[in-house]
Amino acid sequence: MNSLDILSQKLLQTRKYRALHLPPETIRDLIEQESQHYSDPKAVEESVRKKLHQLTALYLGDPDYEAALQEVRQLTTRAELEIFARRMLACHTSTRERLPNLTDFYTKLFAITGKPQCILDLACGLNPFALPMLELPPDIDYQAYDIHLPRVDLLNAFFKQCGFSAAHAEQRDILVDPPTQSAEVAFFFKEAHRMEQRQKGSNHRLWETLCVEYLLVSLPGSDIGKTHDMHERMRNLVKQTVQGHTWQIKEVECGDELVFCIHKGAQV
Ligand SMILES: C[S@@+](CC[C@H](N)C(=O)[O-])C[C@H]1O[C@@H](n2cnc3c(N)ncnc32)[C@H](O)[C@@H]1O
Repeated sequence: MNSLDILSQKLLQTRKYRALHLPPETIRDLIEQESQHYSDPKAVEESVRKKLHQLTALYLGDPDYEAALQEVRQLTTRAELEIFARRMLACHTSTRERLPNLTDFYTKLFAITGKPQCILDLACGLNPFALPMLELPPDIDYQAYDIHLPRVDLLNAFFKQCGFSAAHAEQRDILVDPPTQSAEVAFFFKEAHRMEQRQKGSNHRLWETLCVEYLLVSLPGSDIGKTHDMHERMRNLVKQTVQGHTWQIKEVECGDELVFCIHKGAQV
């Protein structure tokens, strides 16, 4: 084993990350990136640990995945599944903040994009639990991606129990291995600012690569403590990321979330 493999194994086995079963390619990518900035192995490890802390963002909240997996398999009625879904959405800061405005949020977005037949949900977190509330057909093509395996497994059990026959969650690092499937709409909610911290310029490459007609990038209007306004910082991030493209952008605000609806053009 070389030093990269040793550090990678060490980080994957730490108590904090063991249960997440993170993709080894994510850790390798972080180590390779940070090795370009530091020559001292200790500094590399410290920097990788900081990046991992930030990209897994465990402080934003989680359900008990094992208990939730047992529970979802027992649910049968639409009402039971919706109550469960709302409880899951409330477990994580990003989805909890969206919950009071959920209908308004998607009504505003679909007024711009039209009701899509195919959706990608990038760095999805617990957001796909909103699917039963989106008034889309049960055969909606919905492809969700996250690096967190217990989340992915729970989402797949939920889709199955709800009867969403073409909905699927996949464990994938969207920066290392961007989805190639074409779709009318991609959701990319509350993560682009973190990706930029992981690797400067990473959004530019990702947004270019995606084969979607509309890319809906949401960003927080204020910091996590709700003390600093972030509107201008987030607008600048989007402005810099789309540089060199003539994509049309419409901005929608809902609660404390700013959504940049980027029209990349017909790709489907
Ligand atoms: C702040 S949460 C946002 C979740 C969701 N998009 C929302 O707004 O409700 C970020 C999520 O992105 C996932 N994530 C972070 N980096 C990722 C990557 N490179 N590829 C796939 N998922 C990633 C994390 O595991 C986490 O579930």
